[in-house]
Amino acid sequence: MRKAVLVTGASSGVGLALCKRLLEEDHELHLCLACRNRSKAEAVCEALLASHPLAEVSIVQVDVSNLQSVFRASEELKQRFQRLDYVYLNAGIMPNPQLNIKALFSGLFSRKVIHMFSTAEGLLTQEDQITADGLQEVFETNVFGHFILIQELAPLLCHSDSPSQLIWTSSRNARKSNFCLEDIQHSRGQEPYSSSKYAVDLLSVAVNRNFNSRGLYSSVVCPGTMVTNMTCGILPPFVWTLLMPIIWLVWLFHQKPESLNPLTKYLSATTGFGSNYVMTQKYPEEEILGNSVMDLDEDTAEKFYQNLLELEKHVRATIQKRNHQS
Ligand SMILES: NC(=O)c1ccc[n+]([C@@H]2O[C@H](COP(=O)([O-])OP(=O)(O)OC[C@H]3O[C@@H](n4cnc5c(N)ncnc54)[C@H](OP(=O)(O)O)[C@@H]3O)[C@@H](O)[C@H]2O)c1
Repeated sequence: MRKAVLVTGASSGVGLALCKRLLEEDHELHLCLACRNRSKAEAVCEALLASHPLAEVSIVQVDVSNLQSVFRASEELKQRFQRLDYVYLNAGIMPNPQLNIKALFSGLFSRKVIHMFSTAEGLLTQEDQITADGLQEVFETNVFGHFILIQELAPLLCHSDSPSQLIWTSSRNARKSNFCLEDIQHSRGQEPYSSSKYAVDLLSVAVNRNFNSRGLYSSVVCPGTMVTNMTCGILPPFVWTLLMPIIWLVWLFHQKPESLNPLTKYLSATTGFGSNYVMTQKYPEEEILGNSVMDLDEDTAEKFYQNLLELEKHVRATIQKRNHQS
């Protein structure tokens, strides 16, 4: 039977490159492109089928910053699929990024220069806004919309016979210092992107804790620095082309999910000669036997998960009330 893979944000950048690579690994996949823009998705679908005619490529329209859209898409997926083997939770935004010039110059002449460029720590601020669901847009797009998607898709993901896997596109920019359990949407800060990616890391850990026994596993990855629409919003493309673009998310497609460390973030990397490899993100204080754990603890992950469940209850009730009134 064909493996079924769902990829959010498949219309460009990391998601699109990932789809091409997955089809190179397995020509007979059923790949479902979860995109908000149908015409972009149709163009991608056509191109993928032209290069991989044995594959099955389909589309589901979903805007992860709109919960009604997530509910609709989930219903459609439950009708179309018996199970999903892999879900790549990749769609994401970094709206109106601003480069902090002062931090850039002081960082350039400090010992933290490499760290600063590899994580963008302190370098980028963003302007967030409120969605129609009344949530912070970066949080809803990068975290909460995807959380609701997996809640809704649980019947397709939880099987005792063979495990399914969630793979989140996180980032090296995920910083503990930018996340706060009392403000999970980062409504009071200036680095919602970093906060949302740290939230993704926590959520992945909590999913493992709550769902492994039901046959669902979760991992986080950072694709490395890629020249995409997102990064071109920060610096002009020619600057990025000086940096080696890479992608190796496909590596996780070949691993047994039970054998992966749920506390590790896997990073795409490349050598100066262009060969790809996978490494794990290193945190100096927390390195254990060469295997690194993320800068988080399971207790905070569980508290965050409980916060999300509370928020889910609240948002569902509000939407139901709104639908009832209209
Ligand atoms: N590029 C990098 O160097 C880098 C590094 C670390 C992590 N990442 C992560 O990689 C992921 C992909 O980013 P990218 O660099 O490939 O940027 P991108 O080219 O801008 O792609 C973002 C994708 O997400 C989709 N998307 C955005 N908002 C959405 C929404 N509300 N509902 C559904 N889809 C939505 C976009 O759809 P449209 O085509 O309709 O806009 C697009 O397909 C993100 O999670 C990002 O944080 C990227």
